Amino acid sequence: MIRAVELIQRKRDGEELDGGEIAELVLGYARGEVPDYQLAAFCMAVYFHGLSSAETFALTDAMVRSGETIDLHGALGRRVVDKHSTGGVGDKTTLAVGPIVAACGVPFGKMSGRGLGHTGGTLDKLESIPGFRVELSTEEFVAQVRDVGLAIVGQTADLVPADKKLYALRDVTATVENVSLIAASIMSKKIAAGADAIVLDVKVGDGAFMKTLADAQVLAETMLALGERAGRRVVCLLTDMDQPLGRAVGNALEVREARACICGEGPSDLAELVLDASAHLLALSDLDVDRNEARRLAEQAVADGSALAAYERWVRAQGGDPDEGALPRAPVVREVVAPRAGFVRQLAALPVGVAALHLGAGRGEKDAPIDHTVGVVCLKKRGDAVAEGEPLAELHARGEREADDAATRVLAAYELGDEPPRPRPIVLDTLG
Ligand code: URA
Repeated sequence: MIRAVELIQRKRDGEELDGGEIAELVLGYARGEVPDYQLAAFCMAVYFHGLSSAETFALTDAMVRSGETIDLHGALGRRVVDKHSTGGVGDKTTLAVGPIVAACGVPFGKMSGRGLGHTGGTLDKLESIPGFRVELSTEEFVAQVRDVGLAIVGQTADLVPADKKLYALRDVTATVENVSLIAASIMSKKIAAGADAIVLDVKVGDGAFMKTLADAQVLAETMLALGERAGRRVVCLLTDMDQPLGRAVGNALEVREARACICGEGPSDLAELVLDASAHLLALSDLDVDRNEARRLAEQAVADGSALAAYERWVRAQGGDPDEGALPRAPVVREVVAPRAGFVRQLAALPVGVAALHLGAGRGEKDAPIDHTVGVVCLKKRGDAVAEGEPLAELHARGEREADDAATRVLAAYELGDEPPRPRPIVLDTLG
């Protein structure tokens, strides 16, 4: 008999629970013995009181134990790498990093999530590719990492089922933005999926769950500690999310942009982050290269077409059509134009993410369907000069009414001024 009410009450009152109690609740939830409403209340109590590091470890450990774990190292006999982002607007980095790293001969195996709140999810983006299957069995996942060098899958019923349920619940109960819940969610997936070396992209800014560099550093340190306890090599990149990453926000639009990036034609901030993350992964791998050499290898894979070949092999292996022309398109495309001339001083990520969500690119309710075609393309980004009447952004919508709503939100995201703002790097800090 699980004492769910008592445990919720004690957490509500700021008490620390022991590891067994956290496991009882989380594993009970995964088995369907604790209902959504009780876990939602527990998450809200955690949101307000936080979890100690012992509780965070117990939560992560229980989530890992809620399903199978994979020994990728054992199955391949070599080091496997993985990367994960804490979630942002327009973050399609994984879609380009995976093929680049695989093209350099390093196996990449990753378990991803769906969109959360205003942020997009890798699985939703991948499902915009016609035919692409994100739900591989564990055997298929391991075989694909071994044979193709790259697999990105969803949380099947077997792998971290507790996070799969909790993630969807947090998305619709305003309980995403908590360091311990985010750290446990990400690290349980990374530990269960079995990679030896992991690069974590911790987003910082208005479009991220962590709004300040200080909060992002706490999240990074929490995940580094969880990785160390699990014997994994982890590096955290703290990266700018005060504006959308790249230009495209929305599932199929982002796949198109990631593909362009793999071909060396991506926007500069995305390309820089993709190459930096790839270089860290290659330097952590068993290639025995330093970061300078790793960066050179990543750049070469883009330049010589081997990264695109790896992308096409991977997408086909998961049943998808890698052709750019196969990606679906929205019926309505509308421009948002600049009301005056000047420079883009600010392009807030959150309203762009919310505009994409309302266009149908994300979910308002657990398990709600999404529209893979819709979203926003930010034609002008921070620092760009713009003439009056010139397009700032392009809206991809299901209909005119949806485009009207998105136009208001996207225009409000832009702040135009007479001077360009000071340039800001995409990678703000690196820990680990
Ligand atoms: N990404 C995850 O996998 N989980 C979170 O809680 C947030 C971002």
